[in-house]
Amino acid sequence: MKTQVAIIGGGPSGLLLSQLLHTRGISSVVLERKTKDYVLGRIRAGVLERGLVSLMEEAGCADRMHAEGFIHDGTLLSYGDELFRVDFAEHTGATVMVYGQTEVTRDLYAAREASGGQIEFEVENVVIHDTKTDTPFVTYDVAGDARRIDCDFIAGCDGFHGVSRKTLPEDVRQEYEKVYPFGWLGVLSETPPVNDELIYANSPRGFALCSMRNANLSRYYIQCPTSDRPEDWSDDAFWAELKRRIPADQAAKLVTGPSIEKSIAPLRSFVTEPMQWGRLFLCGDAAHIVPPTGAKGLNTAASDVHYLYNALLEYYETGSEAGVNGYSAKALKRVWKAERFSWWFSSLMHRYPDQTEFDYKIQVAELEFLRSNRAAQQAMAENYVGLPY
Ligand code: APR
Ligand code: PHB
Repeated sequence: MKTQVAIIGGGPSGLLLSQLLHTRGISSVVLERKTKDYVLGRIRAGVLERGLVSLMEEAGCADRMHAEGFIHDGTLLSYGDELFRVDFAEHTGATVMVYGQTEVTRDLYAAREASGGQIEFEVENVVIHDTKTDTPFVTYDVAGDARRIDCDFIAGCDGFHGVSRKTLPEDVRQEYEKVYPFGWLGVLSETPPVNDELIYANSPRGFALCSMRNANLSRYYIQCPTSDRPEDWSDDAFWAELKRRIPADQAAKLVTGPSIEKSIAPLRSFVTEPMQWGRLFLCGDAAHIVPPTGAKGLNTAASDVHYLYNALLEYYETGSEAGVNGYSAKALKRVWKAERFSWWFSSLMHRYPDQTEFDYKIQVAELEFLRSNRAAQQAMAENYVGLPY
């Protein structure tokens, strides 16, 4: 098989890139190791930066997002019973879209299928070849049948556990990592959200987050030890702990209900450099991971896709290789700013096992500074709505 761009990974990165390329007549094939239902079964964050909203519009996949998503022009932060708001619109003129990543992925699959996109599911043994030549190719198996795709470029959109990052020679790859000493226990419940906006809560007992998917589907998280398992937490225990971590007036109106999904996610910051090797380009979780505080995972994958899409467009439309040769350096500049914000917000809002009372007082002082200082609020708001591409 021959295509212009072979894309490994049928998550949001790979699908968004494939659909954008399609809109400009550039062919691609997406190779996904799981089934579509498995991919759509993943529960992920649900806050889209303005850049990703624009990319979905450019890809022709934004109708349902605009119909069912919620525009948020601010967020709430709490410490103990104190609660304050950061107004994104006031400080940046921008807003965010609250719309589940699962729905983004669903819309992208629908668009690829409607336009006859080539997606191969349940692929195995994907191997990337000859990326340092102008005739790279990918080999893989489907149902025991050996396949090969000859292409001009390969996009490694196969997430943290994929093969693409590991294709870069070990002596070339520089990896940076920070593992956080806690996880997030997340619950999905068919209950109305406790508030119209998200609440990021710092409490002496640990972090909590009140989020939502729609008017009757809420998403809540509490910080938990990395040793915890979802089955260690009954619904009652979860709701009781969540109520202890958010302001009393919010806890008093929290509507609880049975969890329809319960999972624990570990938290890490991770970046690999470079994000390309010859004609192999890494996008999204294949190249970097952030703690979910601030929902920068999908949104940073989106900026990678934006840079790679425009670089490929430049190549095919003008023959210039400047964009493709400069992809890694350009993407990494924004990746590190997203890493910084996610680390900063995580450090501000979570209780660390070795944290002293002094450390906690410093967190509270920073939250009070953020509450009272316009410059601090503007800095946070600009990062939250999404730094420019
Ligand atoms: N071959 C083919 N597909 C693979 C392989 C492989 N060897 N390894 C992994 N995959 C697939 C996975 O099954 C997954 O569907 O690649 C896809 C990668 O998708 P994500 O992990 O979602 O990563 P990405 O598309 O970059 O999206 C980043 O999604 O998972 C969240 O937290 C993440 O918000 C971030 C966003
Ligand atoms: C979510 O709704 O799942 C969510 C929202 C914001 C975050 C993380 C997760 O920072």
